[in-house]
Amino acid sequence: MRTQVAIIGAGPAGLLLSHLLTRAGVDAVVLETRSQEYVASRIRAGILEQSSVDLLTEVGLGDRLRAEGHEHRGIYLQWPGERHHLDFVDLTGRTVWVYGQTEVQKDLVAAGTAEVRYEISETTVHDVETSRPYVTYVDARGTAQRLDADVIAGCDGSFGPSRNAVPAETYERTYPYSWLGILADVAPSTDELIYAWHPNGFALHSMRSPTVSRLYLQVPNGTDPASWPDDRIWEELGRRLGHGQDGWKLTPGPITDKSVLPMRSYVQTPMRHGNLFLAGDAAHIVPPTGAKGLNLAIADVTLLAKALVARFRERSDALVSSYSDDALRRVWRCTHFSWWMTTMLHTGGDPFDAQLQLSQLKWVTSSTAGATGLAENYAGLPIGF
Ligand code: FAD
Ligand code: PHB
Repeated sequence: MRTQVAIIGAGPAGLLLSHLLTRAGVDAVVLETRSQEYVASRIRAGILEQSSVDLLTEVGLGDRLRAEGHEHRGIYLQWPGERHHLDFVDLTGRTVWVYGQTEVQKDLVAAGTAEVRYEISETTVHDVETSRPYVTYVDARGTAQRLDADVIAGCDGSFGPSRNAVPAETYERTYPYSWLGILADVAPSTDELIYAWHPNGFALHSMRSPTVSRLYLQVPNGTDPASWPDDRIWEELGRRLGHGQDGWKLTPGPITDKSVLPMRSYVQTPMRHGNLFLAGDAAHIVPPTGAKGLNLAIADVTLLAKALVARFRERSDALVSSYSDDALRRVWRCTHFSWWMTTMLHTGGDPFDAQLQLSQLKWVTSSTAGATGLAENYAGLPIGF
């Protein structure tokens, strides 16, 4: 079988790339190891930057987002005794939207533009340095298949095979803490997200809808979620988020999902080898503190789709040649921002570090220059800045 672009991975990067290419008249086939149901139900990111929302709207994927998503003007930053609101609209004229990655994924599937082969195995890329690359795999019925293409897009996340097929330099930072994340059937106790510094560790109050809350606690690496019964989670969330402070209350509710996420920064450069192009988590990982992972994946494939459409429709390779550099400019900005938010908010028990963090938080929340820097990065720079 032959297509113009063989896309590996049906996460948000792969499905959106397929959507953008198909709309522009470029053929694509997506290969995915998991089932459609599994991919659609993975609980991951929850915040979309303004430019991600604009892009999704522009390409016909904004209707449910705008009807069911929630636009936020900013976030709260807090430490014991103080809570401050940063208003991104006042600071930068931009907003963010609460709309789960699961919903973005559903919208992409509902658009029906992607031709996806689910439940495949043994994905292997071949001859990517040549103009006739191809992918071999075993389909859902156990039959060996070959997909020939002009270009392969590696959108297969951090555990897929694409990244290993690119001889690249890697830059990496692991952090000495993880997040214990919960999803709970309870109305959020806040109108906008709360990022809380606390001597016991960071806590985040996020949400998915008016009836579903998403919350996180900093925990040591290797933590077993079973060591955190529900009551202990709510008690510690209450402590770190300031239950009782100035009359604010955290309302607990039934926990429907509980998991531990390790934190890592990782960048692979370049994001291209011959006719294999990497996008999204296949090329880079950020810790979730800056809410950038999904937004970076959207920005990458927007650039990649433009470059591939220029190659196939206009016979121009300028954007293909600059894709890796163009994408990496934003990747490094988001990598720095995510690292900065992470190291400002997570505690490690060192009293000197704690004072530096508090000093930085006080500056960010009291100086217009400091607040604007955070707001500009959090609400996101335009794609292709
Ligand atoms: P993925 O979503 O990982 O998609 C890659 C796809 O490739 C998957 O469907 C996978 O099954 C498929 N695949 C893998 N190997 C193969 C193969 N061999 N052949 C074919 N297909 C293959 N970001 C945030 O901004 N905020 C968050 O709160 C947040 N929480 C997260 C929680 C978790 C547990 C994880 C893992 C990530 C989280 N992220 C978060 C990051 C965000 O979800 C990712 O940045 C985003 O999913 C990237 O999209 P992607 O399409 O590049 O990769
Ligand atoms: C989430 O809602 O899952 C979420 C929000 C903001 C973050 C990380 C995760 O920084």
